[in-house]
Amino acid sequence: MLALITGGTSGIGAAFADVLAARGDSLVLVARDAERLRAKADELQAAHGVPVEVLQADLAVRADLLRVAERCAAGDLDMLINNAGFGLHAGLLAEDWSIHEKALDVMCLAVLVLGGAAGRAMKARGSGRIVNISSLASWIAQGHYSPVKAWVRSYSEGLGDELHGSGVTVTAVCPGWVKTEFHERAGIRTSSIPEWIWVDAHKMAAIALSDVEKGASISIPAKRWRVAAFLARHAPRAAVRMVSRMLTKSRA
Ligand SMILES: NC(=O)c1ccc[n+]([C@@H]2O[C@H](COP(=O)([O-])OP(=O)(O)OC[C@H]3O[C@@H](n4cnc5c(N)ncnc54)[C@H](OP(=O)(O)O)[C@@H]3O)[C@@H](O)[C@H]2O)c1
Repeated sequence: MLALITGGTSGIGAAFADVLAARGDSLVLVARDAERLRAKADELQAAHGVPVEVLQADLAVRADLLRVAERCAAGDLDMLINNAGFGLHAGLLAEDWSIHEKALDVMCLAVLVLGGAAGRAMKARGSGRIVNISSLASWIAQGHYSPVKAWVRSYSEGLGDELHGSGVTVTAVCPGWVKTEFHERAGIRTSSIPEWIWVDAHKMAAIALSDVEKGASISIPAKRWRVAAFLARHAPRAAVRMVSRMLTKSRA
């Protein structure tokens, strides 16, 4: 099996790469940092003896995105994991909205363009898996990050419906808190987040992949996160907004 993973050099994307390579799958890794890409590819090849191709690309740059889309359209991918992304805690009133534009480019537009390219090729072949990394935050109300991740979840359901019966499945994975470079890169304080809430990236990747194999449209890959998602979906929205405000305050 051949899987393309965006953001496959760190955190959740790297964990998916490790789990897939360990079961003998071939990979295409996409990220901006060429040195890190090469190092991750060498590490996986040495540890598991699988072929790993690298594609250096900044998904916020249109020409780079089109190159990755071309790779997705080649027709040999069995799985696409749209994972690249970053934490976002710039306010919605910020005059400088460049980071919001970048978030839409990397976490929405790139997901749409790569999902379309891979989806068309997979549909023609009659099989394939598309995996989009959303978040538990998609059910709450945290600044711009929640709407971006709600878009990913909603888009995944729409794409899954369009591909229904084609042999291609689409899964939105909704993780809660995972220790990666995400929080540090975005300057998000994590000291107030209790230890028990965190889930290991490899553990969650393995559970998510088993949901993907079952063709699940949504995967919430930990019991504690499923409880949180249930509460966020069923509690009064005013309570959800209050908790969202508390969470946002605790991260600043
Ligand atoms: N960590 C959590 O608690 C958590 C929870 C829910 C959802 N998520 C989601 O999980 C996904 C992965 O996050 P993570 O926690 O694993 O973060 P991470 O450790 O910071 O990894 C992010 C990955 O994305 C790549 N990337 C970032 N911007 C890119 C761009 N413009 N073009 C191409 N690649 C780019 C990075 O490589 P380069 O820097 O080399 O480009 C890196 O490989 C994100 O979509 C995030 O929203 C994370």
